[in-house]
Amino acid sequence: MLEYNIDLSGKTILVTGAAGFIGSNLSKRLLSDFEGIKVIGIDSITDYYDVNLKYERLQEIESLSKDWTFIKGNIADKALIEQVFTEHSIDVVVNLAAQAGVRYSITNPDAYVESNLIGFYNILEACRHHEVEHLVYASSSSVYGSNKKVPYSTDDKVDNPVSLYAATKKSNELMAHAYSKLYNIPSTGLRFFTVYGPAGRPDMAYFGFTDKLVKGDTIKIFNYGNCKRDFTYIDDIVEGVVRVMRHAPEKRTGEDGLPIPPYKVYNIGNNQPENLLDFVSILQEELIRAGVLPADYDFEAHKELVPMQPGDVPVTYADTTPLEQDFGFKPSTPLREGLRKFAEWYIK
Ligand SMILES: NC(=O)c1ccc[n+]([C@@H]2O[C@H](COP(=O)([O-])OP(=O)(O)OC[C@H]3O[C@@H](n4cnc5c(N)ncnc54)[C@H](O)[C@@H]3O)[C@@H](O)[C@H]2O)c1
Repeated sequence: MLEYNIDLSGKTILVTGAAGFIGSNLSKRLLSDFEGIKVIGIDSITDYYDVNLKYERLQEIESLSKDWTFIKGNIADKALIEQVFTEHSIDVVVNLAAQAGVRYSITNPDAYVESNLIGFYNILEACRHHEVEHLVYASSSSVYGSNKKVPYSTDDKVDNPVSLYAATKKSNELMAHAYSKLYNIPSTGLRFFTVYGPAGRPDMAYFGFTDKLVKGDTIKIFNYGNCKRDFTYIDDIVEGVVRVMRHAPEKRTGEDGLPIPPYKVYNIGNNQPENLLDFVSILQEELIRAGVLPADYDFEAHKELVPMQPGDVPVTYADTTPLEQDFGFKPSTPLREGLRKFAEWYIK
């Protein structure tokens, strides 16, 4: 196990994408768990999905603590980012702001270049000039492309992205490596594997399926249900991010007198791939249990098995051994438990 070398109490943390699914849950957790912490959230509130959900998440954080500051702004705006770092003397950054989604990158590539490349570059530059203690940033399981070997390991070659989204996430890891090497900025990238839970992203399959089933529409199950995914419950992701934030990779000098990059990348996934059809069956059972769907719902009549979509990959499944070894933690919330919480939130 690694020893924590950052005490988050009393620190100022910048969370980008703070109105997003993961960012909002992380902000709440930081504000409730660490004495004297200040959390600065930034988000441009993109309309990629319903902005009301983002404003609701922000309201919930706002009601929790006075040590919370929200800035509505774009991380691709370099002057704004410079101003935020200057005004708030940021100790730790968690960069979650991004244009997410694989399918949307096929029709809207500009959004990915702006948020994921220019925005991330601005964050790196600010970390460089303001001597941030640790930069933690979101990567994605999509960097594994259509790799055949599972479970996916951070030692695997990931040079063949199958979407622009994946290419931007891999680029983030490369850019972070260069900045860690050149400017000795401790950075940790986290490859998240399909995150789900209450107030999650409406663009994701479990949420979209629920909306459709409620309306009585038919849901399309891609690759005839033979997709396997690591579905990772939001609280597990937040727990992983908080642990990782507290250990910045050590600064060391190599034989050439230059920094050995203080740089790490971890997978953070459930390590237990679930078949999409089983996933959907559990979801349906839990939606009935929570009263979202009627007890006699004819599920068979509302599902259609269809082929793969461009950019999709058949199996994603994380090797989480390094995370376990270094942080003594791996996501473990059972799917039924997580979907139960989602269904109970949905009915409210
Ligand atoms: N949820 C998942 O399953 C998953 C899986 C892999 C990786 N990730 C990554 O994790 C991070 C968080 O994901 P999420 O699920 O919370 O997504 P999300 O879309 O709910 O949150 C991202 C937030 O970033 C904001 N944003 C986008 N571009 C911005 C910009 N230029 N400036 C400021 N704010 C901007 C959006 O308004 C949004 O609120 C993202 O980087 C995503 O790519 C998520």
